[in-house]
Amino acid sequence: MRLHLFVPFLLPVLGTALLLQALKEIPRALLTKFTLFSQYSAASTCRGNHNSTSVGSPVYCGVESCPLISAADTEILFGFSNIDPGDTAGYLAADHTNGLLIISFRHTMTMANVITDWTISQVDASAACSGCLAHKGYWSAAVAVGQVLKRPIRHAKARYPDYGLAVTGHSLGGALATLYAVSLRNEGYNADFYTFGAPSIGNYVFAEFITNMSDSDRGRNYRITHLNDEVPKVLYRTSRAPALNLVVAEYSQSGPEYWITSAFEEPVTTADIQVLEGVNNEGGNLGRELGSLRDHLWYFGPTSFCLMP
Ligand SMILES: *[C@@H]1O[C@H](CO)[C@@H](O)[C@H](O)[C@H]1NC(C)=O
Ligand SMILES: *[C@@H]1O[C@H](CO)[C@@H](O)[C@H](O)[C@H]1NC(C)=O
Repeated sequence: MRLHLFVPFLLPVLGTALLLQALKEIPRALLTKFTLFSQYSAASTCRGNHNSTSVGSPVYCGVESCPLISAADTEILFGFSNIDPGDTAGYLAADHTNGLLIISFRHTMTMANVITDWTISQVDASAACSGCLAHKGYWSAAVAVGQVLKRPIRHAKARYPDYGLAVTGHSLGGALATLYAVSLRNEGYNADFYTFGAPSIGNYVFAEFITNMSDSDRGRNYRITHLNDEVPKVLYRTSRAPALNLVVAEYSQSGPEYWITSAFEEPVTTADIQVLEGVNNEGGNLGRELGSLRDHLWYFGPTSFCLMP
């Protein structure tokens, strides 16, 4: 008798729960895109993609295999290195198969890159958004490389007007990708970003501004994290820790976050990625107390294709 009363109520609840479970899985095509960009990101570690000799060649992956890049018709349009401050390196490439213009920034490989990472005081970033403060090292490096990329981007967009713009990078490269995507969007371009284990780039207002951009039609944010990766949360946690908060300015993280829950070197399925909306959502990487550096080094595959800077 009681049960009969409950069943009509339970069924919709169960149905909704199952539906929510199904909705949580990301589409297969998005997982493939994440894997493709993890390869474009790792390829930024190869010097062969940085210089003028590489222009016109396909994106190079060193000795590693990069099946998704190899399967595509790719072409380096512009390579850059030693951009100061920050010693930034990377490349701009066209992917004719997927209709994309990709800007990829290299992660920390040199002493100058380490100094950039550790220049954690904040500077005024009102050039990007009102009330925004940015990590000084990342901001200075992003502004400098943005100047260098102005003409190549304009030319590439003129040549391939229908291609989408996408910025990518791992770690330091992810911080630069975030800031550079914001600058492209502010210039009127539509630009997606795909970052892997990217540290915070600024204060709460900046994170909220970036999060809001993804909800509008300025380009999507794909801030991808892996399990307990220390790097995306270290500034967030440090700036909220007793005593440390007195010396470290407030740092936040933008949404949405795509949190990989597979273990190190385990294959990632669509069910292994959780989407966390909003600024500073602690339901994913930010919420796990102790960080791991090993989790930082693996995103769908190796985060580096070439070992020498
Ligand atoms: C430029 O790239 C080529 C590979 O495409 C590499 O052999 C060469 O060492 C690079 N030159 C410099 C100056 O880095
Ligand atoms: C982001 O959007 C919310 C909701 O529209 C708004 O209240 C907030 O001021 C926006 N923040 C920034 C930094 O633009």
